[in-house]
Amino acid sequence: DNTDLVVVAGQIGGCQEELLAEDIKKNPKKYPKPLVALISGAHAPEGKTMGHAGAIVSPGQVYGTFQSKKQALESVGVPVVNSQYDLITEVQKRLKKKIYFDMENYYKKMKTIWDAPSKKTGWGTLITKVMPNNLLISGYSLQDIVEKKGFIETAYLLVKGEFPDKKTAEEMRKIAIDAAKRPAPNVHRSKKEDISKTLVKYFVLDDELAQYPEEGTNGAVKKTVFGIGRTARYLSGILHTEKALEKLSGDEPFSHVIYRAVTGNTMVNEQHSRMIEAMIVACVDHGVTPPSAQATLIAATTRAPYEIAVAQGVGAITDVHGGAGAKAAQLFTECILKSKKENIDVAQATREIMKKYIEEGKRIEGLGHRLHTKDPRRDVLWNFSAQTGIAGEHVQLYKKVSTIFEQVRGMSLPINVDGVIGAIVTDMGLDPAMAKAFFIYGRIAGLSAHYFEEIASQPRMRQIHFNEALYKGKGPRNIQ
Ligand SMILES: CC(C)(COP(=O)(O)OP(=O)(O)OC[C@H]1O[C@@H](n2cnc3c(N)ncnc32)[C@H](O)[C@@H]1OP(=O)(O)O)[C@@H](O)C(=O)NCCC(=O)NCCS
Repeated sequence: DNTDLVVVAGQIGGCQEELLAEDIKKNPKKYPKPLVALISGAHAPEGKTMGHAGAIVSPGQVYGTFQSKKQALESVGVPVVNSQYDLITEVQKRLKKKIYFDMENYYKKMKTIWDAPSKKTGWGTLITKVMPNNLLISGYSLQDIVEKKGFIETAYLLVKGEFPDKKTAEEMRKIAIDAAKRPAPNVHRSKKEDISKTLVKYFVLDDELAQYPEEGTNGAVKKTVFGIGRTARYLSGILHTEKALEKLSGDEPFSHVIYRAVTGNTMVNEQHSRMIEAMIVACVDHGVTPPSAQATLIAATTRAPYEIAVAQGVGAITDVHGGAGAKAAQLFTECILKSKKENIDVAQATREIMKKYIEEGKRIEGLGHRLHTKDPRRDVLWNFSAQTGIAGEHVQLYKKVSTIFEQVRGMSLPINVDGVIGAIVTDMGLDPAMAKAFFIYGRIAGLSAHYFEEIASQPRMRQIHFNEALYKGKGPRNIQ
């Protein structure tokens, strides 16, 4: 009863259509609904196989041709067409334009779906390509950058996509040094306060940074470099080393400024200074997926000011992300102390401590990575630590940690950049907390680049699409 018309779909070859025509003639009551036939193959040459054996028309046949089928069906009142376009016209003619499907409304509905913002937000970037065991910044491998370039030049690359020429590099260095010379805001640091939280306070409270312009040619990169200079000043505030920055000559490389801020020494140990800068550069960026980059990007979508957006990213660097180096440094110091105290082999002491950790359900900080099975930043930093004569018992132990972990846990995990930095920092005799400080410091360059990329290339208020924001709580109810 729901059928208004029947379409016979046929083709040349065989005699089914002719038999149907005969049957319609003999038993018309069997066919109460109007029929329209689409027969394909009208132009097929005789004798040629068209796709399959059934569609062969043998020369001289009185049935099986397009003409024979058309004639037979039309003789019993069934119109025959040869194309889908004609079929639609013929069917519409017979059904008197009856509407089965509300095309107009369907189109409107589809249009609202097409016009809606994509469910996939698409966090594309021109800055860093992240691949398993490899990181490319604007096409340059991060390992190469760590070896050959300083922090300021790398920050410039992140923001601008190219390294600066000599004159511009000099201009940038001066901006950073000027920023490091200016006093930092007065920030109170509570006992045991996480260094990322203290740095957030500095960022948020610093009027010098907030007021530094970011407009005009090179505005974004100048602001980034100024922010990097300010961060050296914040670190000196945290480490009480401001004095070491007071007599900055303005002719020094920026790596010296970092060294002064971190150690409080005005006599620069060139090897340590290079090592510290290399660790910082190794941490500059890891694309758009790390939580810190996401936090900065979300703030940038709302056009939050630079210092606020970067502070959001810095605040998201915790022991879970980026902060494991400090914990790793503590853990391996504990292993070395145990081996000395109990006069046992370091590997044995480490095995025992690891076993205890694992039994307590704790993770070994500095091991494992979501993507890399061999952290691309590992070897370049190990090499630096060897060349600068810094590598000592912590680096030595850390190189064996994956193997020891496998013996204890039966699972193979790579050392990550946090672990590598944790070991080097300890061999340099620095506070373990500096491992996290270096990670954050480097990442400030990447966060700045992501901030400026977002505001320059994306509409405001990018956000989670409503379809992804699932409410899973209680249904509507009344307050009694
Ligand atoms: C970085 C990290 C989050 C990546 O984790 P992941 O690859 O997603 O792996 P998962 O968290 O799903 O863990 C998978 C398994 O490996 C174990 N595992 C991963 N990292 C471990 C670690 N560092 N120590 C001990 N076990 C670890 C987990 O316990 C889990 O074991 P299970 O399957 O028996 O439960 C993880 O390795 C980690 O927490 N590392 C320590 C912290 C750290 O160094 N962070 C800095 C990263 S750069």
